Amino acid sequence: MIDSTSGARAELEQARREQELTDLVVASFGLTGDARLRQVLQSATRHLHAFIREVRLTEGEWNNGIQFLTEAGHITDEHRQEFILLSDVFGASMQTIAVNNRAHGNATEATVFGPFHTEDAPYIEFGGDIAGGAVGEPCWVEGTVTDLEGSPIGGARIEVWEADADGYYDVQYNDERVAGRAWFETDADGRYAFWGVTPTPYPIPHDGPVGRMLERAGRSPYRAAHLHFMVTAKEMRTLVTHIFVEGDPQLEIGDSVFGVKDSLIKRFERQSAQTPTPDGRDLAGGTWSRSKFDIMLAPAS
Ligand code: BEZ
Ligand code: FE
Repeated sequence: MIDSTSGARAELEQARREQELTDLVVASFGLTGDARLRQVLQSATRHLHAFIREVRLTEGEWNNGIQFLTEAGHITDEHRQEFILLSDVFGASMQTIAVNNRAHGNATEATVFGPFHTEDAPYIEFGGDIAGGAVGEPCWVEGTVTDLEGSPIGGARIEVWEADADGYYDVQYNDERVAGRAWFETDADGRYAFWGVTPTPYPIPHDGPVGRMLERAGRSPYRAAHLHFMVTAKEMRTLVTHIFVEGDPQLEIGDSVFGVKDSLIKRFERQSAQTPTPDGRDLAGGTWSRSKFDIMLAPAS
């Protein structure tokens, strides 16, 4: 009886000391002049301390964590951003996108930006080819851009980018190629169309600490097959999104960065080599696919 009472007292004293430290650190940020920064720093402190206390973090584990972050820093350079990958595989990138792209009527859902967008994509005309030599089965993609009432938005700027059938973006090759990306504008009726390659699943860079973490966790580094879009139009909220491929087995296994939304899964209809192409393009006897993606933009405000 005496033992259990003193045990309970020790527990209370332990909890008091832990809480006292949390309160002290929170208070240390109390004079931060920028109110928003103060809120972020104090909240980060509370959550970090709660995590350490909840899992009863050992000193060895703390060391492993520091080592992990150090390795993430070392592998990061102008082409490789391990911290963004870390944010992605924890769903932190997608949660930030969810918080900042509130549901708005039938507006097309946003998803993760990813590290492979570039500013120097070439311009193509209506029905042009973004492949630029990227290997893969040709794929015709068409659709419209409208507001939430369904009124067409002409002159909307659309940027698209995708990996080739070997699972690589152009910027991942050690040469100067520009392939699998382009920008174009909707016509006066809000319509767009282009040729790309049928998207295939590919892994996020997984030869660093984030890849090792996924392996330890038994998680796949693969992303579900997708095609990236960024759509900008006057007075409308910029949309960064992808379309995914209905029937892709990776959708069942899981997308490594949690980017999939049901509304973004589209049919990519396989076409035989004999099926005429929409624009009469000669595909030299190869199969192709086609997909349709109608985009609804929310107002900017
Ligand atoms: C991508 O879709 O390109 C991507 C997104 C997150 C991490 C790595 C790649
Ligand atoms: Fe991607």
